[in-house]
Amino acid sequence: MSPLPAITIKIVSPYLSMEDKYKDLVAQLKAHEGLAAIFGEAAADIDAAAEPEAIEAARVKHLGRKSPLSLLLRSIPELPNEERPVVGKYGNQARAALEQALADRKKQLESGELERRLATEQVDITLPGEPFPQGRLHIITQTQWEIEDIFAGLGYRIAEGPEVETDYYNFTALNTPEGHPARSSHDTFFVDGDPDVLLRTHTSPVQIRVMEKEQPPIYVIMPGRVYRRDSDATHTPMFHQIEGLAVDEHITMADLKGTLETFVRAIFGADRVIRLRPHFFPFTEPSVEVDVSCMICGGDGCRSCKHSGWLEILGAGMVDPNVFGFVDYEADRMQGFAFGMGVERIAMLKHGMTDLRMFYDNDLRFIKQF
Ligand code: DAH
Repeated sequence: MSPLPAITIKIVSPYLSMEDKYKDLVAQLKAHEGLAAIFGEAAADIDAAAEPEAIEAARVKHLGRKSPLSLLLRSIPELPNEERPVVGKYGNQARAALEQALADRKKQLESGELERRLATEQVDITLPGEPFPQGRLHIITQTQWEIEDIFAGLGYRIAEGPEVETDYYNFTALNTPEGHPARSSHDTFFVDGDPDVLLRTHTSPVQIRVMEKEQPPIYVIMPGRVYRRDSDATHTPMFHQIEGLAVDEHITMADLKGTLETFVRAIFGADRVIRLRPHFFPFTEPSVEVDVSCMICGGDGCRSCKHSGWLEILGAGMVDPNVFGFVDYEADRMQGFAFGMGVERIAMLKHGMTDLRMFYDNDLRFIKQF
């Protein structure tokens, strides 16, 4: 196929020559040879004037007191009879036309820059446009949204809570009283040395805030930033978690397992399986850690899964009745499950990353890959 011819748009200056602009008058002036010549000369000068000084010079030359036109008009009384009415009528029309033309030309020259650009700029609309860099969502945001989408599809709502929390929501109401050993595992940042105000160490406090406000049935996920005094290849002082909470009547651990398996297959692939290992969290009883079959070796064992075939992805469990007590739920009628996962960890597993700090180095060569 032969290439398309380039299409060029040329924008031409709208200037009309004096002869075109005053066609009728020029025709009429032919009735008087002298007048026609005077007008013709003035018109040529106006057409040729390219700067304001030239306009002014043309005005003096052709309309000034000593200009041929002024002299001719002043000489009317001395003219032969038959010339007088012709010169009187068309002479004044010529004068008015020249005045108007000079004013028009002046205005036009004042916008000369625009004129020049209109006359010279040409746009080839078939050329490829100038590319400009396109932004994108950070891989952590993308992963968070993907997780949110999966749970939204299961009927979960999204809730958020504050990143600066009180001790009560972060620990106490989550069945972790003062002096509880589980507190020391969190490496908490406190605000201004106030032991009651801190940067939340997990998204679990949002569970309490949701249950304080709403009655079951509750199906909600709670994404957000969390903070811990920790920094190495697999820990950054700020990271993201997604908390999940389901509270209803007749909720069992089978529901928890089915929900998490559905989630894991949606995010890591349809042939993944999960296993639950007993664990301890203060706010769930029983508690588990959840592993997914290694997506790199398919479960046979490789370096990524430390030859176990399994990768740990989250903590979960059945909501401890004590937690229901803190939010005045009827603990004997309600059951619930909860889970919490690290967004960075999910993203690292999904993309085979080994160093979590890369998420926050802002190296575009890394960020642009997603
Ligand atoms: N909050 C826990 C953490 O940050 C994770 C977690 C475990 C959340 C079990 C839960 C849960 O809701 O049931 O280590």
